[in-house]
Amino acid sequence: MWPLPEGYDYPRNHWYVAAWSDELNNETPLERWILGEPVALYRDETGNAVALEGRCPHRNYPLAKSPIRGSALECGYHGFTFDSDGQCIRIPSQTSIPSVCRVKSYPLVEKWKWVWIWTGNPDEADESLIPDHDEIAITADGWLAEQSLTHLLGARPQLLHENLTDISHLAFLHAGTVGTEAVAAAEVEISENGRFMRGARFIPDETLTDFFSEVLDYDGPVDRFVAIDFYAPSIHVALESFRKPGTDEPIGEFRVHHVVTPATKDSTNYFVAWSRTFARENQAVTDTMNKVFAMAIDQDIDAAESIEKIIRSMETPKELLVKADEHSIRCRRWMAKLIGAEAQ
Ligand code: FES
Ligand SMILES: [Fe+2]
Repeated sequence: MWPLPEGYDYPRNHWYVAAWSDELNNETPLERWILGEPVALYRDETGNAVALEGRCPHRNYPLAKSPIRGSALECGYHGFTFDSDGQCIRIPSQTSIPSVCRVKSYPLVEKWKWVWIWTGNPDEADESLIPDHDEIAITADGWLAEQSLTHLLGARPQLLHENLTDISHLAFLHAGTVGTEAVAAAEVEISENGRFMRGARFIPDETLTDFFSEVLDYDGPVDRFVAIDFYAPSIHVALESFRKPGTDEPIGEFRVHHVVTPATKDSTNYFVAWSRTFARENQAVTDTMNKVFAMAIDQDIDAAESIEKIIRSMETPKELLVKADEHSIRCRRWMAKLIGAEAQ
């Protein structure tokens, strides 16, 4: 699907974030569409997270609308009951249960506050493929990490990926809060290391916006380093580091973790967390950051959904790319490569 090649939607043999840990319980299943399929998420009797294919094989009733019985889900339509491994254990209208009567059970891993789901071949679900939570400054010493936002966007996943790998939009879409014109004008340096692809900008003598001055409790010019690390196919880590001009003296750093999980071909689950090194005990700083990031993310969502409407109206979508788009385009090629490899 554009801007990926026709027929390319999403890579499957990967970990994606399915939910926040606190969204799952043993009382009411959560339905979330993931890579074009409904998934029913809940906890079994011992508290373990479970993800079952969310479509009953009998008559396609949504299993997430069904009651939890112990560790199993009892379909709310005719009572077929599926254990946490997906096997049907009861058909109320007959005594025999055909072995084909089962739903898919997805491998899950709970790490920090995220529930990661493996959407590909279960035999290949290797937990070590989940990005290192110390490296992305979620669990690292000296950092305070916050669970922040959950959205379902009416836009194809790749549009959100390309918003996130395009830092030049900060200067305009988020002018006055996290963006200044200097961000758009700065040269982009792209690098990759096998785990992530980075697009970085260094802005010497940057003027802080009121938001940054307030949360960093700092006035005056700074050297600002801003980058996006894309861990294909799902996490973008935005890095911001502020130092006293011309020195290595730190003023503060934060990260914003943008997690993209395709819901369907043209809708996207979006989870946001962030972490910081400064004023970690200060709740007012947390509140201000939550407020400003929520505002900025609403602007991104509005942009992606508005672009989606325009693209859908075009028979053959087009674009005119410039130098600043290089990081986005290289990340797009990476996604296409992952999908293409699975297609083979
Ligand atoms: S649709 Fe689920 S039991 Fe009939
Ligand atoms: Fe943005």
